[in-house]
Amino acid sequence: MDISTVCVHGCGKRYDSTGAVAVPIFASATFAHPGVGRSTGFDYSRSLNPTREYLEHTVAALEGGAQAIAFSTGMAAVAALMELFSPGDHVVMSDDLYGGSYRLFLQISQKNGVKFSYGGTVDEINKEITPKTKAVFIETPTNPMMRVIDIAAVAQITRKHNILLIVDNTFLTPYFQRPLELGADITLHSGTKYLGGHNDTLAGLLVAKDEEVCERIRFIAKTTGASLSPFDSYLIIRGIKTLAVRMERQEESAMAIAQWLTGQRKVEAVHYIGLPTHAGYEISRRQASGFGGMISFAVDSEQTAVSILENVKIIQYAESLGGVESLITYPMLQTHADMPEDERNARGINAGLLRLSVGLESPDDLIGDLARAIDS
Ligand SMILES: Cc1ncc(COP(=O)(O)O)c(C=O)c1O
Repeated sequence: MDISTVCVHGCGKRYDSTGAVAVPIFASATFAHPGVGRSTGFDYSRSLNPTREYLEHTVAALEGGAQAIAFSTGMAAVAALMELFSPGDHVVMSDDLYGGSYRLFLQISQKNGVKFSYGGTVDEINKEITPKTKAVFIETPTNPMMRVIDIAAVAQITRKHNILLIVDNTFLTPYFQRPLELGADITLHSGTKYLGGHNDTLAGLLVAKDEEVCERIRFIAKTTGASLSPFDSYLIIRGIKTLAVRMERQEESAMAIAQWLTGQRKVEAVHYIGLPTHAGYEISRRQASGFGGMISFAVDSEQTAVSILENVKIIQYAESLGGVESLITYPMLQTHADMPEDERNARGINAGLLRLSVGLESPDDLIGDLARAIDS
């Protein structure tokens, strides 16, 4: 079955006999037992809820995993993941990644005894691995610099060392990229972004290939308690129904905008993985079936960046991405504000860098909006 059909029909499980086409929102914290020692299969919603289960089965099918586990936010999912590790364990992470993950690793997990180091390329990741390394955590493409890492090549390394490969697949979603099929062990989503798709709810998902890893994560989820609510589960299910058409359209518009940006006098660099000039273009073509809707670009000065942020009218200056509304973000002051300045500058996250999440508005209107704002 094509993935676009799976998006619409989800896991297809029915929880009642009414013939309801949309999955019901089971707004129940707890479930009555038919007798002592007996269960309907559902006991308490922190552990299991039918609406959330429907979402989890759907996302597991989309990613090709044994199970998916849904959390209240993407960061709750990353935090749960960190509970797989013990003091003294070491994790290699990609050197460019979402600022919130970076903050969690260095300000919370590290305090709890887990050690981290960075690798930007496959070779650098390989060199960082020690006998204490338990996992490699990568984003590809990365947030915000849109760097691409060869998932299959990293998977060869993690397999050799018998450690986990975790891929944050938020930017491309399983519609365009399925890391588990390329050798990763766990994929992670901020479901807040493309899966939900409407900038109206927060969610996180972990999907693992191996049943035993899934059970460990499920135990952490029910024990630490950041489970996704039934209503938010419903919103993500509803969002996924249109994932395929949204991803196609957002990619098409992003390509047109990236090409337009490339020709602008005040734009010094355009980071869009669909441009043949992008360093990760060939790997992207190999490991993903599309380039997505995220662009970052560097303008000639802080003044130009501020002018764009303050003068766009259709595009909104707001943190987040992947929704139907186009959003522009200033990573230096928003997503990566907690990263030390020298680390930010080393990655190119400076006063001239902007990140654009292309929504579903007309691409001509979006280009017009940017053109006017750049020269305001
Ligand atoms: C790539 C990536 N991963 C994880 C997260 C965290 O997700 P959430 O904001 O849903 O907690 C984000 C949020 O922006 C993100 O961009």
